[in-house]
Amino acid sequence: MSKIVVTDRDGHEHTVVGVDGLSVMELIRDNGIDELLALCGGCLSCATCHVYVDPECSNLLPPQSEDESDLLESSDHRRPTSRLACQIPFSEDLDGLNVTIAPED
Ligand code: FES
Repeated sequence: MSKIVVTDRDGHEHTVVGVDGLSVMELIRDNGIDELLALCGGCLSCATCHVYVDPECSNLLPPQSEDESDLLESSDHRRPTSRLACQIPFSEDLDGLNVTIAPED
């Protein structure tokens, strides 16, 4: 069974079962980690699904689009490992992915 590990803002780790076809944002939200607001529902217009991806896992991810990068630019907490979780479709290849929820803007 595939899974991802999500670290919340208090530093607690949550193991979340991966479901093919859902985004990492949906996996986090559907598992009751409500500090990931995801206000736009994945429409790439809010940046409230901002996460940091473990650098060891970043090569597993699809490349960042210009629109995603532009939206992340609006965050005061952007880092080189920043991604928007709604833009990461889950697949078996991402088994073991580690993400940390970024601070709220
Ligand atoms: S949920 Fe709004 S940009 Fe990801």
